[in-house]
Formats: sequence, C-alpha cells, structure tokens
Amino acid sequence: MAIKRVFVLNGPNLNLLGLREPDIYGSETLDDIAGQLEDRARDLGLEVDVRQSNHEGHLVDWLHEAQADGAHAVLLNAGALTHTSLALYDAIRSIRVPVIEVHLSNPHAREAFRHHSYVGMAAKGSIAGFGAGSYLLALDAAARL
Ligand code: DQA
Repeated sequence: MAIKRVFVLNGPNLNLLGLREPDIYGSETLDDIAGQLEDRARDLGLEVDVRQSNHEGHLVDWLHEAQADGAHAVLLNAGALTHTSLALYDAIRSIRVPVIEVHLSNPHAREAFRHHSYVGMAAKGSIAGFGAGSYLLALDAAARL
C-alpha cells in the first residue's frame, strides 16, 4: 500500500522562523520543524512534504497539487494570508483533501486583525498556540483522519 503523504504548506515570512520575533514564534527554524515532522511522520507511518512560499498563488497551486496527488491531508500555516485570502478559502473548499489550519502563536490572543481566519472557515480544524508543537499536534490529528 502506498504511504500516506501529508503536505505541510507554509506561507509568507515563515522562511524567517528562528529570526523573526522569537518571543512570539520561538527560536526554531522551519528546517528544525521539518526535521521534527519527518521523525514523527515516520512513527505514524506517514510521509511529509514541507514547503514554504511568500506567494499566495504558490499556496493555491500546492493545495490543488495535494488533491491531484491524492494526499492524505494538508497542514496549512498561511501566515498573514490566513486573515486576508479569499483565494485560499476557495482553494481549500475546492479540494476534497482535509486541510488542518496551523499557527505557532494563538491569533485569538493577539491583535484584532488576526481574529478572523479565512483558512479556518474552510479548514477541517485548527491548532494554534503551541509553538512548533502545533505542527506536531496537527500531524497527530492528520494521522487520525
Ligand atoms: C502565524 C500567525 C499569523 O497571524 C501571522 O501573520 C504569521 C504567523 C502563526 O503561525 O502564529 O505569519 O500564522
């Protein structure tokens, strides 16, 4: 049987994790998080494909690719596009692959403009506020789907 693949898609500014506001986002880099996800995925019998782009259209294309590839699930940290992107809302609703919204910080405990989430409106569920652990919890959730 083919191994179940989980796409882990990261949006704008998440390439700067580790440097970027470490008091909010922690000191781990996206590569560190990718390594932790690969280890956990192995334990869960999954495979992860971790990507990052600062461009909205890349994220839309990768959501379509997840569908075309028959991915098991998508973990999506869309960064600030979470709060603005109707294109991501439509893309998530356009595919049958379940999408789990992920955030390192807890947007609901921050500025008011972060309280609304287009991604969350279309996602299967959301995990936020546990730093890098949010991604690992989301992967556990994906394994249960
Ligand atoms: C974030 C939260 C967003 O509000 C913010 O724009 C980000 C990171 C998080 O992981 O906590 O870029 O998605």
